[in-house]
Amino acid sequence: MGYQTIEVRKVTPVIGAEVHGVDLTKPLGNQQFQEMHDALMDNLVIFFRDQKLSVDQHADFGRKFGKLHIHPASRSPIEGHPEILLIKADETSKHVAGEVWHSDVSCDIEPPMGSILHLQVVPPDGGGDTMFANMYRAYETLSEPIKKMLAGMTAMHEGEHVYRGRYGVNDEGKVFPKAEQPVVRTHPVTGRQALYVNRGFTTRIVGLKRNESAAILEMLYQHIETPELSCRFKWQANSIAFWDNRCVQHHALWDYYPNKRYGHRVTICGEKPFYRA
Ligand code: SIN
Repeated sequence: MGYQTIEVRKVTPVIGAEVHGVDLTKPLGNQQFQEMHDALMDNLVIFFRDQKLSVDQHADFGRKFGKLHIHPASRSPIEGHPEILLIKADETSKHVAGEVWHSDVSCDIEPPMGSILHLQVVPPDGGGDTMFANMYRAYETLSEPIKKMLAGMTAMHEGEHVYRGRYGVNDEGKVFPKAEQPVVRTHPVTGRQALYVNRGFTTRIVGLKRNESAAILEMLYQHIETPELSCRFKWQANSIAFWDNRCVQHHALWDYYPNKRYGHRVTICGEKPFYRA
């Protein structure tokens, strides 16, 4: 892919690229926007360094790619900006966001298309990397009989066990989203097939016995976690990662306790997942 307005350097041949030559505090021109979208489609997750974005600039960048998503469980820390999701860990944390492999909010009927995370504070001694895995490749490297079995299957994705009690707000009586999603998802832009079950949200494959569903899901999760499907991003203050939830899963490493890691995520609305043979 030839880019004229940005420089794109692959992180691995399988997934991830750093994008250089762009200042995200300034509005994107049409060509730059198009090339950035192409870079995302080609690399699945793109990274930026040294972007000192304000909350408004972060949200504006997200809005270039679509309407912004409001998280079903977490409340924004910033007055007037419900679209901001706080990503924070410190010495008081019992959990961190994204500690298991997942695709963001896949329990929504229309899960987010993409997520843009901007970290402002990173742990002083390193750690806190995020891993990203290529779900096209995960699908493509399954054997043909397994692909055939999964075609047209659906699975339940639920927010209840992930979100209840998690964000320090009173969620008594709150109903968290759940949705039936295709196990193999066709990407609406590239037309490629991607594996779409994840350890975070998927609870069962519809129509199977409990033990059958558990065994197949565990086999798929272990396959998704094959190291060769992933890249690992080392954050610096003011780095950004922008990933496509339709074909990427990610996993945030919490190896820096009790140090602090802090940032904001904006999340871009998506469409109902579908499978087209
Ligand atoms: C998330 O968006 O799931 C958190 C990712 C991270 O903190 O690296």
